[in-house]
Amino acid sequence: MSDDIQDWWDKTSEAYQDASQIPVDIHYGPSSPNEDDLKLLGDLAGKRVLELGCGGGQCSVAFALRGARVTGLDFAEGQLAFARALAAEHGVEVDFLRHDIADLSPFADDSLDIVFSAFALMYLKDRLKVFREVRRVLKPGGIFAFSLDHPVFRKFDLETLTMVESYNETGPAVDDLGELGSTTMYRYRVSDLHNALVDAGLVVERIVEPDSRKRYDYDPWFGRWGVYLPKVLDLVPPTLIFKAVKPSHLK
Ligand SMILES: C[S@@+](CC[C@H](N)C(=O)[O-])C[C@H]1O[C@@H](n2cnc3c(N)ncnc32)[C@H](O)[C@@H]1O
Repeated sequence: MSDDIQDWWDKTSEAYQDASQIPVDIHYGPSSPNEDDLKLLGDLAGKRVLELGCGGGQCSVAFALRGARVTGLDFAEGQLAFARALAAEHGVEVDFLRHDIADLSPFADDSLDIVFSAFALMYLKDRLKVFREVRRVLKPGGIFAFSLDHPVFRKFDLETLTMVESYNETGPAVDDLGELGSTTMYRYRVSDLHNALVDAGLVVERIVEPDSRKRYDYDPWFGRWGVYLPKVLDLVPPTLIFKAVKPSHLK
């Protein structure tokens, strides 16, 4: 577990939730269609869902409202306190656990229908290890859907609107959320994510790069933090989405 990332999210949870006002919804992030529009996950009633890096629980609660049995993992207590209050407000039960998403050992082999994550996996140093664990805990045919920063967006200077770093640069970098401050994230290329999924034994069914020139009325991040500004969104997408499945013949 990276202590500085955990400390940062612990300290920033309240300000993050105040600033972003994220609706209860299965969202994929800034300038992106939500699950109602993308339809990557199918019918959710009765499904066993694990959300990695659930934050304030808006997606976990939305899964539960659709009849799924949900566990939400996050290592920031402030985020989980918000998430528990949100579930109570909506009258649903969600198992919110303070836990590092780099360790899925509490979950049994072949036990989950869906593993979902919105904008949390960029904080992982060893994604291949986690992807292997995701394959282990998914039932055969189970779905792994996640979103995270589009790597090109990360290379873009928001003022000059130019690329300021090689696309090929990977490894740790500053994650700058404007007035909220900054922490550490781990850079990747689209191929790094795709190939890590393949190496983990998952089958990539879909890569979605939502057209960020469109405006989604349910997007709470539009214009936020001096980051998701229209002039930037017109040029580069902030969100990248993967849908992968565990093959039915694999254990
Ligand atoms: C940008 S927020 C996204 C939260 C939520 N998924 C959403 O879409 O609103 C990233 C979240 O990932 C959590 N996180 C990052 N790395 C983590 C780790 N290794 N283990 C558990 N949670 C982690 C942070 O605490 C934070 O709540």
